[in-house]
Amino acid sequence: MPQPVHDQIAVVDFGGQYAHLIATKVRRLRVLAEIRQPEDPIEMFAGYKGIILSGSPSFSSFGEDSGYTKAIYDLDIPILGFCFGHQEIAKHYGGQVVHGGREWGRASLHIVHDHPLFKGLAPVEPVFMSHYDSVVSLGEGFEELGYTALGESEGGGHRYAAIGSDRLRRYGFQFHPEVDDTVHGHEMIANFVLNICGCAPSWTMERYLEEQVERVRAQVGDQSVFLLASGGVDSTVAAKLFALAIGPDRLHLLHVDNGLMRKGESRAVVETLQSLGLGAHIHFVDASETFLAALAGAIEPERKRQIIGDTFVEVFEREARRLGIEDHLLGQGTIYPDTIETGGTKRSDTIKTHHNRVPVIERMIAAGRVVEPLAELYKVEVRELGEQLGIPRDMIWRHPFPGPGLGVRLLCSNGVEDREAFGEIEPPLAALAARYGLEALALPIRSVGVKADLRAYEHPVMLGGAIGWDRVLEAAGMILKQVPALNRCIWNLGPAMPKTAKPVAAGMTRERLDLLREADALVMDGLRRHGLYDAIWQCPTVLVPLSLDGRGRELVIVRPIESERGMTAVPAPLPEALLAELRDAILELAGVAGLAIDVTSKPPGTIEWE
Ligand code: XMP
Repeated sequence: MPQPVHDQIAVVDFGGQYAHLIATKVRRLRVLAEIRQPEDPIEMFAGYKGIILSGSPSFSSFGEDSGYTKAIYDLDIPILGFCFGHQEIAKHYGGQVVHGGREWGRASLHIVHDHPLFKGLAPVEPVFMSHYDSVVSLGEGFEELGYTALGESEGGGHRYAAIGSDRLRRYGFQFHPEVDDTVHGHEMIANFVLNICGCAPSWTMERYLEEQVERVRAQVGDQSVFLLASGGVDSTVAAKLFALAIGPDRLHLLHVDNGLMRKGESRAVVETLQSLGLGAHIHFVDASETFLAALAGAIEPERKRQIIGDTFVEVFEREARRLGIEDHLLGQGTIYPDTIETGGTKRSDTIKTHHNRVPVIERMIAAGRVVEPLAELYKVEVRELGEQLGIPRDMIWRHPFPGPGLGVRLLCSNGVEDREAFGEIEPPLAALAARYGLEALALPIRSVGVKADLRAYEHPVMLGGAIGWDRVLEAAGMILKQVPALNRCIWNLGPAMPKTAKPVAAGMTRERLDLLREADALVMDGLRRHGLYDAIWQCPTVLVPLSLDGRGRELVIVRPIESERGMTAVPAPLPEALLAELRDAILELAGVAGLAIDVTSKPPGTIEWE
């Protein structure tokens, strides 16, 4: 393996999605971090200057390590483990781990003596704990670097919260320095990466850009690239990067109006692309008829995604033939979370298939026909790269919009009620809702969510009552934690809490899409008028074929969220004045009978409903 250009850290992902948080924190230090799977062969660990072992939902005490590559312990580079990783290190070197000693939430870490890992920190540091298993003894050569003390009322603390052997350069933290609740976790990670591993902070966006330009040139050679430009941040940044790498003459951009775009969006996208100096080959095709015909009768979310993905490829191939550029490579603005959420890494369940990872595209990737210069980056990093490339701020900070567009926000139904799980949902739901002074109505449809890192296709529940944001969020959290078979809570904004909700048969029709486009445009306008567009990360508007008035008119749901990477999210409160405006305007739309706001965090709900 050639020596990497930058010092790199491997983050071993033992499951859960915290591993990405660790990688992001390391990257913020300007050191490249890559996620590695536990069973990756030892050769794949060559060239790293250090390894971080993540936490895991598995129990170290029960030996649930599923046979990871233990040869990493023979490498002469520093290793630091968090939580499960910490316990594995202790165990590997002769210490003992037991099932017990649970700690949850904030604790105080007492640092035993000065150590390079805790350089610049106070003798007592607030840290975040979340564990059932604990290290109770250490092997030869290891020492306790820190212990925790909880408040006395909480029953005292814990030994071996931080351990290490300077001779072996092996360290472990029982707590999670990657989460913000560990106030100086960033400094601890920096001490490990920069001081103990000796990494040079050379991985800047300027360098990344130069390297990607070289990489694209090498991969493309004298061929040309054909890129589907949705107008979103990712494909626009990719387009600008391609233009820089191979010149605008060999770059063909195609914007497809798939009929699933926002109101007036396709026209705006083409205008923006033209204004960015991306050359003369900007093509546009209105393929809405093709998409709607393919989607006719499709109801199940994964099926819809599959059709949208396949139709994209069909349209792309058809247009390429028409333009005489079918031998071009396919450029894609795929980013890292797109691959992980499609089950692209071994341990992640398929939560939903992203359109740029459908089988046809996978085959093209295997044949070396796809160029994806952003595939290692998180969204924030793509935006940083976009700034490097001189793309206007407005464009870079647009809300992310999913590839399948409104296709995943227009729910479809065959009109059949799905109440199978209601027997176990309704009794605890009613009891909990009453405790908060809320009315609750479980809805006889399903939406996609994510629970304990697995896909969940479960019921939403509508809550009604004027108890204010904070209390509603608290109630929603409690209900989703305690009531089975639910993955979302929505809060009724209509004038009265509906008594019943019946699914109506509805598919992907132009009329319904137009209705959703109108509602979505009202929401986006409202956010801009109230100066909230930039403060909110994303705000899908969803049309749900549920009749609340017995007359077949549908329910609109607004989902304002705060997030950084889209991997997790919390609901963003909207001011009362805006809610009132939305209530008036949206309930006025013909075909709409109800309006609600989604108050679910991710997990357990995904950001999109499908
Ligand atoms: P979820 O719904 O999985 O969404 O919580 C996380 C982020 O990804 C976007 N998203 C997609 N983006 N193709 C995309 O390009 C897709 O198929 C897709 N599905 C979800 C979603 O809008 C959110 O920002």
